[in-house]
Amino acid sequence: MDWLSWLYVLFLLCGTCQYICCSSSSLNSSSCPFPYQHFCNCDDSSALLQFKNTFLVSASVSSSCFSVYFKTVSWEKDNDCCKWNGVTCEKVTGHVVGLDLSCSGLHGNIHHNNSLFSLGHLQRLSLSGNDFSGSPVSSNFGRFVSLTHLDLSFSNFSGHIPSELSHLSRLVSLDLSANNQLYTFTYLRLETLGLKRIVQNLTNLRELVLDGVDMSSVLPDSFMNLTFSLTYLSLYDCHLHGQFPWSLLLKLDQLVHLDLSSNNFFGQLPIVHRNSTTNISSSLNDSINKKTEPADLMLLQLEQLDLSYNSFIGAIPSWIYSLPSLASLYLSNNRFTGTISKFQSTSLTDLDLSYNKLHGQIPISIFELPNLSLLSLEANNLSGVVEFDKLQRLEYIWLSYNHLSVSFNNLSNSSWPNLTYVYLSSCNISEFPYILRYSPQLESLDLSYNQLQGKVPTWFMDGGKDTLRYLNLSHNFLTGNIEQLPWRNLKFLDLESNLLQGQVPIPPPSIVVFSISNNQLTGRLPPNLCNLSSIQILDLSSNRLSGKLPSCLANFSDSLSVLDLRKNKLVGLIPATFKKGNVLRNLDLNGNQLDGPLPQSLRNCRNLEVLDLGNNYINDTFPKWLETLPMLQVLILRSNRFHGPISSPITRFPFQKMRIMDLSHNHFCGPLPTKYFENLLSMINVQGDELKYMGEYYYQDTVVVAMKGSELQLVKIQTFFTTIDFSNNAFRNSNAYMNTFSRNGMLKGQRSNQSFNE
Ligand SMILES: *[C@@H]1O[C@H](CO)[C@@H](O)[C@H](O)[C@H]1NC(C)=O
Ligand SMILES: *[C@@H]1O[C@H](CO)[C@@H](O)[C@H](O)[C@H]1NC(C)=O
Ligand SMILES: *[C@@H]1O[C@H](CO)[C@@H](O)[C@H](O)[C@H]1NC(C)=O
Ligand SMILES: *[C@@H]1O[C@H](CO)[C@@H](O)[C@H](O)[C@H]1NC(C)=O
Ligand SMILES: *[C@@H]1O[C@H](CO)[C@@H](O)[C@H](O)[C@H]1NC(C)=O
Ligand SMILES: *[C@@H]1O[C@H](CO)[C@@H](O)[C@H](O)[C@H]1NC(C)=O
Ligand SMILES: *[C@@H]1O[C@H](CO)[C@@H](O)[C@H](O)[C@H]1NC(C)=O
Ligand SMILES: *[C@@H]1O[C@H](CO)[C@@H](O)[C@H](O)[C@H]1NC(C)=O
Ligand SMILES: *[C@@H]1O[C@H](CO)[C@@H](O)[C@H](O)[C@H]1NC(C)=O
Ligand SMILES: *[C@@H]1O[C@H](CO)[C@@H](O)[C@H](O)[C@H]1NC(C)=O
Ligand SMILES: *[C@@H]1O[C@H](CO)[C@@H](O)[C@H](O)[C@H]1NC(C)=O
Ligand SMILES: *[C@@H]1O[C@H](CO)[C@@H](O)[C@H](O)[C@H]1NC(C)=O
Repeated sequence: MDWLSWLYVLFLLCGTCQYICCSSSSLNSSSCPFPYQHFCNCDDSSALLQFKNTFLVSASVSSSCFSVYFKTVSWEKDNDCCKWNGVTCEKVTGHVVGLDLSCSGLHGNIHHNNSLFSLGHLQRLSLSGNDFSGSPVSSNFGRFVSLTHLDLSFSNFSGHIPSELSHLSRLVSLDLSANNQLYTFTYLRLETLGLKRIVQNLTNLRELVLDGVDMSSVLPDSFMNLTFSLTYLSLYDCHLHGQFPWSLLLKLDQLVHLDLSSNNFFGQLPIVHRNSTTNISSSLNDSINKKTEPADLMLLQLEQLDLSYNSFIGAIPSWIYSLPSLASLYLSNNRFTGTISKFQSTSLTDLDLSYNKLHGQIPISIFELPNLSLLSLEANNLSGVVEFDKLQRLEYIWLSYNHLSVSFNNLSNSSWPNLTYVYLSSCNISEFPYILRYSPQLESLDLSYNQLQGKVPTWFMDGGKDTLRYLNLSHNFLTGNIEQLPWRNLKFLDLESNLLQGQVPIPPPSIVVFSISNNQLTGRLPPNLCNLSSIQILDLSSNRLSGKLPSCLANFSDSLSVLDLRKNKLVGLIPATFKKGNVLRNLDLNGNQLDGPLPQSLRNCRNLEVLDLGNNYINDTFPKWLETLPMLQVLILRSNRFHGPISSPITRFPFQKMRIMDLSHNHFCGPLPTKYFENLLSMINVQGDELKYMGEYYYQDTVVVAMKGSELQLVKIQTFFTTIDFSNNAFRNSNAYMNTFSRNGMLKGQRSNQSFNE
């Protein structure tokens, strides 16, 4: 090239230089005319600046982000936009072709007129992990015809997915997942027609992720025309129902990842007849040979298959056992029947068949899979003996709730370096597995519902001091005192229903859930209980604890949600120290010998749902000041020394949420306080779809109610159960007695209006 041509090239480059047209104020000739240097297209630059100004930035974003990068904050008018965070330009033209604003803390709406849509050269766009405040996905996204990658996941979009996305025929990857809001029930929605168009036209697609998109109106057959190039298909929680079009899998022979979990697919998995399935090499060969025939599943590349949480029935078909590349298989929470066969996929690392109806023995070959690290067979109907030695290489084991017997070779000297989660509830275990002493990683151990007897051995106390977080030894026959609990990071400890004696052992301050109910503990409540500043659930019920309640008891943990001291021998006053802002949900002091009046600071328990003070000696008038507690559903004052008339409510809608109220066996007098249960009656006809119980994951509320004179323990409180009992008081129409029930699966009670007839 001669010097004139060089000059011409320089001139041309300068002509497109962004600084000349966009920011002549910052003219900097030394950075201009070199090829391969980025200079942002002016229109794109100003579009980006406008885009930036559409949003607030703040650090509160979606849980999908490890941290927030305020990428747009550094965008300045006078700088080359190709050097801005998250922006990529085409080298020669300076057009913005890539925009990665994932986890950028953007908050605000994206309307159809957003300047973003003028970035016509975009090839990759990620807006994942921001908060677009329920904005609809604009049909203008269909304008980005050069787009190969579009990621709008975790971004709080809602409404219909526009069928214009089908214009993006170059798309290789489309991710619209996780825009659903659990609490507001807002979803992105996709209809059959839109899906069909997208499926039909996006012939270059390799990854399609639609997790959490509401496709309840979509017929599963609409996926039939998905392109064969697909490697990744994820349809978790899409409200899909019906039969999955399995023949689609004949075509998708590049598929690596298939997730259909948490839908309502039903029916049997397809059965593929192969000549030989007992031999991985021959079946592999078999499927290769059959590649040309249309009647076989290939899936040679399939690494992850997740069909869990659906309603599949029938046996697990043989092709699942012989997928040559399979690493993770999740079939849990279906209704699979039959037995488990030998897995030929030696690459398996995760195998979850839990919560099905599988029976028979666990094939030994499972324990020989060289890379298996997670095995969950929980809650089936499996039987036989499992030798724990065989599990040695596993990290995560769930075998609970079958008819298995797990046996231990306690003489074994081998170590178990990788055992992390061990769930062996109801596995007929009668002694502490000595081999666990060599498991330095142990984090969770569940040996509940076994036949463990005697004292907790000291060697057991010496293990997992720093690692153990979850320990469940409930429902065994453990005896003796537990003086100390050595696990420094323990969060969950369940020792319920054993024969333990002595004082209440004090878990470490890290504890969140602690139950030692239904044992034979004696002595006072130790004051150092009050050091458990993270505890949420404390259940010491059904022991023989005596003495007074420590005054800290009402306020030692800001997160205390359940305090259950039912059925002990506690005496004295209920401490008057319930702080404002506490989150107590269930306070159960039933069946003690507490006396004195009720502390009015109970009024600070704005989250209280269950207050059970029955069977004590509490001497007070009716605590009408409780009527303003907005969540209170269960109030039991039965068998105390409450007295006096119950005058009219203070508020217009007293006890708004009340469903179970038992004031019986006290000394109340005067007219029957009908006002207090009118509201309750209005709730009787509340309709609901599901049977639900009150309580939370680790603690279910229980209550004893009187039914026509006899006490009845409701192990769990159904949310539709409603009852009022004012009997055995001195109300003017004495022995006024009423029970009402609604939507109650266990009891068929009768509704009686007689108390209202005056
Ligand atoms: C011009 O750009 C060069 C290289 O980008 C930089 O080192 C220099 O400081 C700039 N000069 C002015 C005046 O901005
Ligand atoms: C864009 O559209 C929204 C809603 O339709 C409107 O409120 C806003 O003023 C428009 N912005 C511009 C710059 O036109
Ligand atoms: C999503 O947007 C809605 C509507 O603006 C808003 O109420 C909600 O807080 C947002 N959710 C998240 C997780 O950002
Ligand atoms: C399909 O993609 C082509 C471009 O490849 C486009 O012209 C056409 O409009 C698209 N069809 C639909 C239904 O979106
Ligand atoms: C698949 O595409 C063909 C045309 O290519 C069309 O006739 C058929 O209806 C499509 N099937 C589905 C289920 O969309
Ligand atoms: C093997 O497959 C071929 C063709 O699919 C079939 O004709 C033959 O009967 C099969 N053999 C056996 C033993 O099942
Ligand atoms: C696959 O089959 C061919 C003959 O069809 C044979 O030569 C080869 O050894 C087989 N491969 C394996 C891994 O068994
Ligand atoms: C697997 O099949 C091949 C080919 O059919 C055969 O040669 C080999 O012996 C078989 N291996 C086993 C372990 O059965
Ligand atoms: C087991 O895992 C190792 C390491 O990831 C890998 O190299 C090996 O191929 C795997 N074994 C099988 C049978 O897939
Ligand atoms: C469990 O399996 C046994 C046989 O192993 C069978 O008798 C029993 O009916 C099965 N129970 C259920 C609930 O399927
Ligand atoms: C424990 O895990 C390590 C690393 O994953 C692995 O190298 C080792 O073989 C495992 N040990 C056993 C006994 O499985
Ligand atoms: C209740 O307390 C009052 C004093 O506040 C007392 O006079 C009365 O005797 C007590 N009643 C019972 C049954 O203990």
